[in-house]
Amino acid sequence: MFRSFKRLSLLLLMMLPVLAATAAAPGKSAIASAHPLATAAGHEILEQGGNAFDAAVAVSAALTVVEPFSSGLGGGGLWLLSRAEDQHSVMIDGREVAPGAATADMYLDEQGEPIPRASLDGPLAAGIPGLPAALVHMADQYGRLPLAQSLAPAIRLATAGFPLYARMRLGLQYKQKLIQRWPAGAGIFLVGGDVPEPGHVIRQPDLARTFERLAVEGRDGFYAGEFADGMVSAVREAGGIWSAEDLRDYRVVERAPIEFSYRGVRIVSAPPPSSGGVALADMFNILGGFDLAGLDKVTRIHLNVEAMRRAYRDRAEYLGDSDFVAVPVGMLTHPFYADGQRSSIRLDRATPSSALPGYRGEEPKGAHTTHYSILDADGNRVAATQTINGWFGSGYVIPGTGVLLNNEMDDFAIKPGVQNLYELVGASANAIAPGKRPLSSMSPTIAESDRGVIILGTPGGSRIISMVMLGLLSWIDGADATAVVSLPRYHHQYVPDRIYFEPAALDEATRKELESMGHELRESSRLYGNMNVVTWDYAGDEVRAASDPRNEGGAAVRVY
Ligand code: DON
Repeated sequence: MFRSFKRLSLLLLMMLPVLAATAAAPGKSAIASAHPLATAAGHEILEQGGNAFDAAVAVSAALTVVEPFSSGLGGGGLWLLSRAEDQHSVMIDGREVAPGAATADMYLDEQGEPIPRASLDGPLAAGIPGLPAALVHMADQYGRLPLAQSLAPAIRLATAGFPLYARMRLGLQYKQKLIQRWPAGAGIFLVGGDVPEPGHVIRQPDLARTFERLAVEGRDGFYAGEFADGMVSAVREAGGIWSAEDLRDYRVVERAPIEFSYRGVRIVSAPPPSSGGVALADMFNILGGFDLAGLDKVTRIHLNVEAMRRAYRDRAEYLGDSDFVAVPVGMLTHPFYADGQRSSIRLDRATPSSALPGYRGEEPKGAHTTHYSILDADGNRVAATQTINGWFGSGYVIPGTGVLLNNEMDDFAIKPGVQNLYELVGASANAIAPGKRPLSSMSPTIAESDRGVIILGTPGGSRIISMVMLGLLSWIDGADATAVVSLPRYHHQYVPDRIYFEPAALDEATRKELESMGHELRESSRLYGNMNVVTWDYAGDEVRAASDPRNEGGAAVRVY
């Protein structure tokens, strides 16, 4: 009797750290975002008693203002929320949708060939924005504070302005000609048609008023009434096809995330209309069958690449908006499916992409779109990636609103096999249809193990998924938040059949070995992702936040 009691108490004692791990709260709050002013906006709201979800509203809105070339009210995003009190995880899908008048061949000429830049420049490239509705939804359903309170920092920033910084200036130089085409945007971002000097203060009073309307009227302040009608007329005058019904009918969708396990780590990521979670599950399932610890560095890189190749192939073939097409999520994320894919991988040779079924043949981009990660003192978590797609989206600002429109329509496969801005190809699953969401690579992700929690994500178009994969692998191997965001990166996306890499990712000897195995290599540009990570190590309740050292992000941990 005494003995079994002792055994029971021992067992209970052994379970304690696990119980503590899932039940305890970190007692500290952390935010990592692409801009210090956005991170400060989130902390301001936490300090006022808001939770991680209120802070997310504040950060999303502030990023609209201070990183306008990446995301904003004219775009969309995916918000992965995890609530501490009941462990409820949900993805808020605020992705843009194709206008009602959109057609599968709207960007093709009479010969059926893509019209150059038609899906990229000007309002015809813009889907119906989802970000405003997502902010209202998050505040109403998950926040503690009124929307108006969480939007206040963004309104202040839009009114007072912020100094132009290097990355934004680079984007302006890159898109100057496009922005010059429409006076409303040129008036905000250029001075006399020229790119202003660093430090020039960018003020956005129209955007401040649009936020104020949203704060007071909620969803209808953007999607209905005179304001919406005004947007529709302006868009149509400038060559777009929006209608008042498109705006009125826009809906945020709550979706169950993709969840899977890898070596005892529980990983939660974005479901369709993102390809991120499905591709990550597939890649980790493939890798789970190898004894990675027993393999040399080059073979591990080779296997990571082969897993990427296969998951991106399936992305091209099967993925699209699951409200419109049957996406075989269950099959693609099943370990048995990965077993089959693993059996086609040779340890000593690259598999040419053309050897995979359904190959269609083939043309990098980096640090626009934006991701932030939040953990609050109670343990609530947010991983959010939001975008207007390319640098400065479509380049078109709706006059009088400050709203810069996305060019998310380019994320559809405008023709099977034709590459988009990120060299991605797609099939009929991702064809354009009215009301449909274009397939995304955005992969806001939260993972948890006995060690603790990581909240991560990044911009980078097609490369988002492989960056999140490498980031997770490094965290699983023991890396801290700073090491995860700093990790040198490499990428393979099936088509084109080559490995892109940052110079520090592959040393000379590794490059030679990979080439001898049949891999083609290409060094990548400087602008490779912009990762923002928050981690919570249960040991010592260590909370960390880190922003990508490649750019100017802001990461801060605070106790309130
Ligand atoms: O949703 C997507 O996958 C793209 N619109 C994201 C674009 C992006 O990350 C651009 N960043 N460099």
